[in-house]
Amino acid sequence: MTDNSSNSSIPASLLSAAVAALQRGSLVAFPTETVYGLGADASNAQALTALYRVKGRPAARPLTVHLADVEDIAQWAAYIPPAAQKLIDSYCPGPLTLILPRRPEVLDIVTAGSENVGIRLPSHPIARQLIRAFGKGLAAPSANRSGYLSPTTAEHVRQEFGTDVPIIIDGGPCQLGLESTIVDFSTTPPRLLRSGLLTLDMLQETAGLEIQTPALAPAATSGSHYKPHTAVQSCPTSDLQACVERELAQHHQPLAVLYYSPRAVFSNGPDLRLLQLPNQPLEYAQRLYASLRYLDGCSLRSIIIEDVPHTAEWSVLRQRIHQIAPVKHKLT
Ligand code: TXA
Ligand code: MG
Repeated sequence: MTDNSSNSSIPASLLSAAVAALQRGSLVAFPTETVYGLGADASNAQALTALYRVKGRPAARPLTVHLADVEDIAQWAAYIPPAAQKLIDSYCPGPLTLILPRRPEVLDIVTAGSENVGIRLPSHPIARQLIRAFGKGLAAPSANRSGYLSPTTAEHVRQEFGTDVPIIIDGGPCQLGLESTIVDFSTTPPRLLRSGLLTLDMLQETAGLEIQTPALAPAATSGSHYKPHTAVQSCPTSDLQACVERELAQHHQPLAVLYYSPRAVFSNGPDLRLLQLPNQPLEYAQRLYASLRYLDGCSLRSIIIEDVPHTAEWSVLRQRIHQIAPVKHKLT
C-alpha cells in the first residue's frame, strides 16, 4: 500500500493500518525531513531482526530510535550531558542524531551491543504523527537496501523494496534530502560521526564546546558510504569538458554529467546525458540523491559529477560527493 496522502498528515485509515502493522512487528516506511526511514518497533526484537534482514544491514551497525517528544529521550538514554541538552533545546526536532549512553533495558539489537543509543527527533509532521500514534520509539534507518543511496521519495522506497515493505507513507519529496548530522556524546569531547546540514560550527557554538571530527573519514565510522551501482567520478569544473570528451572518446558508451555550474559547456552527442542541479546548496542537496538514483536507472557506463565549490556552505555536499565519487583529476 503506497498512499499519496497530503504532505503534512496521514489519513486516519492509513494511520491505523500503519500503527497496527508496527504493533504486529511489521515494517512501515515513512518520510522525515532528511530522507525516508524504514520504521520498526524499537522494543520488539523480532521486528528489528526483520528490519536488519530486509535492509541486508550488517548486524554490527546500530539503529537510531526515532521519538516525537524531547521528554521521551529519558526512556532510552541513561543520561543527557549538558552540551547534548543544549543541542536538543536548539535543534530537536530536526536533522540531528545524538549518540547517548543507553538505559539498560534498551535492546542489544538496537544498539548492536554498544552501551550507547542513537536518538533522533524528526521534525516532519508525518513522522511525528506516526510516532505519536504508535506511542513508542521507532527504530528507523534510512529506507534503502544496505549500501545504496538513501531514498528521498516514497517511490524510491517502493522501487527498492516492493512488497517487502507493505506500507509506505508518502509525504512527497524530503525537504532536506541529506541524512541527519550525528554527534556522539559517549566520548569527551563529543565527536561528529556524520556531517549534515547542521554544520560543525553551528553545533559547537550551540553546545559551547569543541566537537571533534574523527581522524577517519565519517563514512568509515557511520557507514554512510552509499553509492549508485553505476561507476561515479567527480571532476573539477575547470576540467569537466575535457573529462567528458576523454570518457566519450575512450569508451563510446552512454555517459551522464550531473552539473550545477551555469558556465559548464559540453559536447553534444547521443551518448551524453546532461542533468542540471540547482546552484544553491540547499536546493542541490534536496535533489542530489534523487538525481543519482534516476541516472543509475539509465544503463550508463558512468556518471560524472561536477565538483561543487570549496566554500563552507557547500562543504557537507563536497564530503558526500567525495564519498560517493572519487575526484578524477586530469590524466598525466
Ligand atoms: O536522517 C537520518 O538520520 C535518517 C532518517 C531516516 O532519520 N536515518 C538514517 O539512519 O540515516 P541510518 O541507520 O541509515 O544511519 C544512522 C547512522 C548509522 O550509520 C549508525 O551506524 C549510526 O547512525 N548509529 C546509530 N546508533 C548508533 C550508536 N548507538 N552508536 C554509533 N552510531 C550509531
Ligand atoms: Mg542509511
